[in-house]
Amino acid sequence: MTATTAEAARRPRSLNDVKGWFPSLDQVLFDFFLRRQERLGEHGDLLEMGAYMGKSAIFTAAYLRAGERFTVCDLFDAEDAPDENNAAEARKSYSTLTRTAFEQNYLAFHDTLPHILQGTTSIVPGHVDDDTCRFVHVDASHLYEHVESDIIAARDVLLPGGIVVLDDFRSEHTPGVAAAAWEAVFNRGLRPICLTTQKLYGMWGDPGPIQEEMLADDEWRRGMHTSRQEIAGSRVLRFSGKPKNPAAPRSRYADDAPASAPAPKAGRAPAAPAPAGAPRRPGQVRRLAADVLPPVVTRAIRKRRRA
Ligand SMILES: C[S@@+](CC[C@H](N)C(=O)[O-])C[C@H]1O[C@@H](n2cnc3c(N)ncnc32)[C@H](O)[C@@H]1O
Repeated sequence: MTATTAEAARRPRSLNDVKGWFPSLDQVLFDFFLRRQERLGEHGDLLEMGAYMGKSAIFTAAYLRAGERFTVCDLFDAEDAPDENNAAEARKSYSTLTRTAFEQNYLAFHDTLPHILQGTTSIVPGHVDDDTCRFVHVDASHLYEHVESDIIAARDVLLPGGIVVLDDFRSEHTPGVAAAAWEAVFNRGLRPICLTTQKLYGMWGDPGPIQEEMLADDEWRRGMHTSRQEIAGSRVLRFSGKPKNPAAPRSRYADDAPASAPAPKAGRAPAAPAPAGAPRRPGQVRRLAADVLPPVVTRAIRKRRRA
């Protein structure tokens, strides 16, 4: 059966085609924590609160191992939000989201869907047992009351040594996340390991050994700027920059032609024409000269340039 143009247009050919907020810096950090857990033989479930179109969920699921469960919780529909502020937030920022869009994206990269909880994150504690998760990504509502309870839920479901990631902990437009994040640090025993532009990575345990590993691995930190900060006597690392993306899961549509444009012809793509009046680059001038001047003149010019 052939896909309609609209169906094909929705098929992500790579993780870049999935709408969302998951920069390469955080992909590198997720990869670090999840691979480290695998290396140390740490088992446990994975949890994401706030999946949107699936960008970070698709990435995270690649680290799921036999016998583990990946739970994803999202409203998927603004009208199911538990209060008017949350509904307004969802209508404003996630108006195109549907559960079907999430599932289609996810199944482009993985054979089976995660365990999906459709609804507000307050249902998470009823569906995810305490002390079962090794990695929790908190990225649902960015309003203080919700983030506060999401962090408490994360603390309860995490196994000892498990990692929690708090999204948008310092963005200008999300002061509620900042308030809930630092409240958890000062009042609820959350220990920050490191910060990126967008996310805070922490744990309820000693972050020292993980920080030492990060600092010792110059190769891993290539492409990132590292700084050491101290907050109330505790070390916190800060990473910034745009490192190369780690390998992301491959889409089953990776080899499809882009849906919106005709398939490119084999060979080099033609360069876009320069706008009228734009200055020509030296290579272009040389090619133009070779095209329009008599061969004898072109040969003479080349000889002079070689000399
Ligand atoms: C910032 S987006 C998640 C981005 C996603 N992790 C990514 O990588 O692209 C936030 C998501 O949280 C969901 N959301 C908002 N409020 C929620 C709530 N109270 N409970 C569950 N999900 C919620 C929204 O529907 C939206 O999909």
